[in-house]
Amino acid sequence: MKVVASAPGKVTLFGEHAVVYGQPAIVTSISRRVYVYAELRSDGVIKIEARDLRVPGVIVTYREGEVTVETEYGLVLPAISYLNKAIELTSSYLGSRHGVNLVVRSEMPVGAGLGTSAAVAVATVAAYAYSGGYELSKEEIARLGWEVEKAVQGVASPMDTSIATFGGFMRIRYSGGSIEREFLKVGVDLPIVIAYVEREARTRDMVLAVRDRVTKYPEIYGRIIEVIGEVTSRAEVALRRGDLYEVGHLMNVNHGLLDALGVSTRRLNEVVYAARSSGALGAKLTGAGGGGCAIALTKPESADSVETVVRFLSDFTMRTTLGVEGVRVEVVEKS
Ligand code: MEV
Repeated sequence: MKVVASAPGKVTLFGEHAVVYGQPAIVTSISRRVYVYAELRSDGVIKIEARDLRVPGVIVTYREGEVTVETEYGLVLPAISYLNKAIELTSSYLGSRHGVNLVVRSEMPVGAGLGTSAAVAVATVAAYAYSGGYELSKEEIARLGWEVEKAVQGVASPMDTSIATFGGFMRIRYSGGSIEREFLKVGVDLPIVIAYVEREARTRDMVLAVRDRVTKYPEIYGRIIEVIGEVTSRAEVALRRGDLYEVGHLMNVNHGLLDALGVSTRRLNEVVYAARSSGALGAKLTGAGGGGCAIALTKPESADSVETVVRFLSDFTMRTTLGVEGVRVEVVEKS
């Protein structure tokens, strides 16, 4: 069986970090996807090729317990850990391991804070299962994808893997092991500019740094987390109503609180302030912080000028449609 599975990246509109502490977050899929092509092999060998991942090309071959890694500059791509773990956990869930040729292609840079690792995990789980003739429900794909993220990163909420699987606009809350997902009908188009600045820290380190602060000063950081939850709940109402001004205002408040948590950087703040002063209705960092992406909500007519200004301060910018379809599997050839 030959299949192609794809999953979208994401931006968190409200509630990153606070979601780790049981507060709600609002997240949406973006129109950039990760594609995983999978072809069943009869010799049991698993071969992975990573393309367009903004690192030198990598080819990893597994043969009878032996792993061969070929790269242009000797750099082993972290994304390979997600692929490897996805195969391991999916085959143990299915109770059967089959050989496969996997080719991974990404329309977004890896590690920018756009949920690429979750998209890689989710698309690989789906591609691996379907190439072996197995079908999985979205619930199963989301759960396995989350297991992959947790295994590779050590800490992860189910937010990124949920949105990569289900797509759309989602309010998510995770507490005491249970996941509440609610799909939101947003009453308006959200013109968003995404700006990326170089990442200075990994998601895992940012999450652990916040955990340290919350543990040390619960009456300060714990309260900031609670206020972020309150901002998110109000934003949900504003999004359903299609009130762009209120959404923008709440994005600004959310960014201030993330800065107080210590996850923003000078460059992210510069992008956020420049976006606001060039006409954005609101702007905030999105994702784990420590560099990575900021998002600006604009009026439709000011998106171009906001993008032009923030482009000067960031490594790249992009515009995207929000709320796209989640994981998708297409069968290319039946065996
Ligand atoms: C990372 O995209 C979002 C965080 O809230 C971590 C997580 O939810 O796993 C910072």
